[in-house]
Amino acid sequence: MTAPHPAEGHSMDELTAFGPDFVWGTATSAYQVEGAVDEDGRLPSIWDTFARTPGAVDNGHTGETACDHYHRWSEDIGLMRRLGTDAYRFSVAWPRVVPKGEGQVNAPGLAFYDRLVDALLDAGITPHVTLYHWDLPQASQDRGGWQERETAERFAEYAFAVARALGDRVTDWATLNEPLCSAWIGHLEGRMAPGLTDLTAAVRASYHLHLGHGLATQAVRAAATAPPSVGIVNNLSPCEAASDREEDIAAAHRADGHTNRWWLDPIHGRGYPQDMLELYGVDLPVRPGDLDVIATALDWLGLNYYFRNVVENDPDGPVPHARSIDVPGAHRTAMGWEVHAAGLEEMLVRVAREYRPERILVTENGSAYPDTVGPDGRIHDPERTAYLEAHLAACAAAVERGAPLAGYFAWSLLDNFEWAYGYDKRFGLVHVDYATQKRTIKGSGHRYAEIVRAHRSRAERAA
Ligand code: FCB
Repeated sequence: MTAPHPAEGHSMDELTAFGPDFVWGTATSAYQVEGAVDEDGRLPSIWDTFARTPGAVDNGHTGETACDHYHRWSEDIGLMRRLGTDAYRFSVAWPRVVPKGEGQVNAPGLAFYDRLVDALLDAGITPHVTLYHWDLPQASQDRGGWQERETAERFAEYAFAVARALGDRVTDWATLNEPLCSAWIGHLEGRMAPGLTDLTAAVRASYHLHLGHGLATQAVRAAATAPPSVGIVNNLSPCEAASDREEDIAAAHRADGHTNRWWLDPIHGRGYPQDMLELYGVDLPVRPGDLDVIATALDWLGLNYYFRNVVENDPDGPVPHARSIDVPGAHRTAMGWEVHAAGLEEMLVRVAREYRPERILVTENGSAYPDTVGPDGRIHDPERTAYLEAHLAACAAAVERGAPLAGYFAWSLLDNFEWAYGYDKRFGLVHVDYATQKRTIKGSGHRYAEIVRAHRSRAERAA
């Protein structure tokens, strides 16, 4: 028996907590939506390679065609207009812009984003550009990828090239998306590209991702001509002990170090958490000045939130020796992720209190459910709508408690390539029929549009 969804029947009156300038957006990422993997000079990324590895992705799916956004971007901007959102978070594919990871900039690849940015601005939608959403050029991986310092340096050069080209119009920049996934899931758990299971590789990768983030932040500021606002996107989850046994409490603290503190402390100038350094037992390849680069001041902090972790001690398991348990009776999405909106409020308030960012954006939040198209052609997805409402209410509660939350980006605009899960996990506010590429706004998308409209007219009345 599944408990009733925690947000059934939400009125959304609490959204008055959001200021008049609150940003309403949707998000996607390059490899998940673009397709066109070998057009206009793009070369393979680690995800093209990983997706072709037998058994790596459910059903053998790849991003080869995805949502064909590379050709349908204009229609997709039309969808954003219908949703009434004012911002779009997308990522630029490094393997389109610098296909070999270093050297020559590929003008036709860059031109795609140039057109996209112009069209977004024409539509009154602010582009929020993420420079790295996991699609490392395969050529960089062949030189050692994020395990090597040079990848951080080449990343900054690529960031400079993108900011040079788009930074007269784009003002909102994120360096990395969820470096935790690149390092821990890609290099330690092996469930994402490049598919390694090596703690030393993972820790080194995490360090060079951070270094790349700091260098790229500086590069964007040096290259952009419109004053840039630069941040980083981390996925954060509260880590709670499954019981009040001492060993579970200690496990929860380790899980928190692995999931949250390792990713937040260094970028805020606190260095790497000592307990985690000891646990990993891997020397970081720090050179003089690096920690200051990593802690380059940010204009905003991006937070992606999907679920919390409830953990118990697991001494024989992999680091951090903490095993997530399924909370009995919890409502779960198709990913198996527990629906727990209070965790979003908690992380927003905690980040605000402990790290004092100037601004926070929820850069991703959303849910997968097995949607079906009804006989009338509509997609009725009340669970996703309830998830959306509950998490927006959590955002409002966090604002009431002082979190400087400036915007919310729903994951995702479109159903898309959900990494190792392929196309079967649908997160979109808009349904995609992959056989025909037909887009249909789901019930949750219509509800989001209604919420945005209501917030805007309330703000206008108050002005
Ligand atoms: C996040 C990723 C995003 C998407 C969602 C469901 O971890 O940043 O690309 O896959 O999860």
